[in-house]
Amino acid sequence: MRVLGIETSCDETSAAVVAGDGDGARVASCVILSQDVHAVYRGVVPELASRAHLVAIGPVVDHALEGAGVGLGDVDLIAVTEGPGLIGALLVGVSYAKGLSLAAARPLVGVHHLEAHLFGTALDDPAAVPPFIGLIVSGGHSLLLDVPAWGDYRLLGETRDDAVGEAFDKVAALLEVGYPGGPAVEKGARGGDPARYRFPRPMLNARQRPGERDYYDLSMSGLKTAMIHAVKASADLAADRPHLARGFQDAVIEVLVTKTLRAVEQCGRQRVVLGGGVACNRALREAMAAALLARGATLHAPSPRLSTDNAAMIARAGLFRAAEAGRPVDAAARLPFPGLVRA
Ligand code: KG4
Ligand code: ZN
Repeated sequence: MRVLGIETSCDETSAAVVAGDGDGARVASCVILSQDVHAVYRGVVPELASRAHLVAIGPVVDHALEGAGVGLGDVDLIAVTEGPGLIGALLVGVSYAKGLSLAAARPLVGVHHLEAHLFGTALDDPAAVPPFIGLIVSGGHSLLLDVPAWGDYRLLGETRDDAVGEAFDKVAALLEVGYPGGPAVEKGARGGDPARYRFPRPMLNARQRPGERDYYDLSMSGLKTAMIHAVKASADLAADRPHLARGFQDAVIEVLVTKTLRAVEQCGRQRVVLGGGVACNRALREAMAAALLARGATLHAPSPRLSTDNAAMIARAGLFRAAEAGRPVDAAARLPFPGLVRA
């Protein structure tokens, strides 16, 4: 099976070809065009994202097909992100995919962006397959899931306010280190002294017990407020910046690692699959891998190109959902996660 994937849910225009069957599927080509227009606004401007997708989508798809050495006629299935995401941005990808599907008489399947993040790692790493604990941490979402099988997703916890990537972006703006914030904060934190600032670990305390929402849920607002106060209190922000970044990052990592370990233990899983843009964070990966190793479990994290938004994961998820081809595909800003139940 050869699947063409298309992703335009936020600020990356991406197309990819994935070939193979089931967990044996591999990336034949993947083109990701990141829009830099948003940097001056320090955040994604939806209308500008839609326009940039419109300009880029044709050449990006052509380039992906060329990279895989195939034509549209050689593709067995077209998969496109139908949600969740920015509605104008999604519409560009969905409309383009519908056009290709009609023109080439190829079936079209709609893909849920977050389900696709769970599939991304498996394209690189054959061991990143269920059963596993999934942690998706991106600019828009933070989810902790138990995944006994593809298509069977049990929600353990989610954020009550900001997503983890969003918190990184806001803290980057506060520290004036640039956009996108995650990589800038991580870089800044490398020179920071971990003992200078100790920020609260939100939604984390020893009294929490399995069965309580707090046991797995996340929250970023208290930590963000603590950062605002610390930045205001700093007499020399230039000198304190790396220490503030380090203090923030350490707090986030401790929360994510502790809650993931709770899930591994309670659900009896041996593997953790990380997904979403924050999965690029090396300090998070290292801390998570070390903590899991101590319990005989392993971390499976995608390569950076498969961590952030990309169409290869969309094609892989489309392959899994191939039987649904033929049902109407419509862009949707909000979309229920298929197969997700609260654990
Ligand atoms: O998955 P993604 O590309 O887009 C969404 O679906 O949201 O994630 C983007 C998010 C941004 O908030 C960005 O700041 C964050 O991922 N990010 C990072 C790092 N690289 C990207 N956060 C922390 N550390 C990083 N190295
Ligand atoms: Zn994403």
